[in-house]
Amino acid sequence: MTKETDFFARRLHSLLGIIPVGLFLVQHLVINHFATRGAESFNAASNFMGNLPFVLFLEWFVIYIPLMFHAFYGVYIAFTAKNNVQRYGTFRNWMFMLQRITGVILVVFIAWHIYQTRIQKALGVEVNYDMMADILASPFMLVFYIVGVLAATFHLSNGLWGFLTTWGFTQSPRSQKIVSYLTIIIFIVLSVIGLQAIFAFV
Ligand code: HEM
Repeated sequence: MTKETDFFARRLHSLLGIIPVGLFLVQHLVINHFATRGAESFNAASNFMGNLPFVLFLEWFVIYIPLMFHAFYGVYIAFTAKNNVQRYGTFRNWMFMLQRITGVILVVFIAWHIYQTRIQKALGVEVNYDMMADILASPFMLVFYIVGVLAATFHLSNGLWGFLTTWGFTQSPRSQKIVSYLTIIIFIVLSVIGLQAIFAFV
C-alpha cells in the first residue's frame, strides 16, 4: 500500500467508526432500551425500525458496507499494531491496546449477533422480544451479550477520543485530557443503557 492510500484508508476507517457505524450503535442501544418498558414497547420500536422505507438499502449502505470496511481494515490494524504496554504503561497505551482487543471481540460478537437475529429473520423466523428472551435465558449467551455490549460501548467511547485526535480536533494535552474524561462519561452512560436493555429480557 502506498503512503497516500494508507493515509486515506486510515482516515476513512476513523470516520466510518463514528459516521455511520457509531451513530447506528447509539440508535440500536436506544431502540433496545424500549425493552425496559415491556415486550409490547420493544416489539413496536423494533417493528418501526424493521419497516422503514428502503430498509434493505439503509441496512447495506448505513450498516453493513461501512461496518465491513471498518472491521476488515480494523483487523489489519489490530494485528499490525505495536502494543508496548509493558514498556510504556501509561493510561493511553492501555487504551490503545484495549481498542484493538475490543475490536477483535466485536468481530466475533457482531457476526454471531447478526446470525442469531438478521439472518434468522431472513429465513422466516420472527425476531421479537420473546426470541431475545429465549436467547438470553442461557447463562452462556447472557455473559456473551454482556461482554459484547460492553466491548461495543468501550470501543465507541474510546474510539471517539481517537477520532478527535486523528482528525486534529484535539491537539493540546489539555484538550485531550478533557476529552478523556468526557469519553469515560459517555462509556458509563452507554453501558448503563445497554445493560439495562439486556436485563430487561431476563
Ligand atoms: C460496533 C462497531 C464498531 C464501532 C462503533 C467502531 C468505532 C470506532 C471508532 C469511533 C474508532 C476511532 C477511530 C480513530 O481512532 O480514529 C475505532 C477505531 C478502531 N476500530 Fe472500531 N468500531 C467498531 C467495530 C470494530 C471492529 C469489528 C473492529 C475489528 C477489529 C474494529 C477495529 C478498530 C481498530 C483497530 C481501531 C483503532 C484505529 C487506530 O487507532 O488507528 N472496530 N472504531
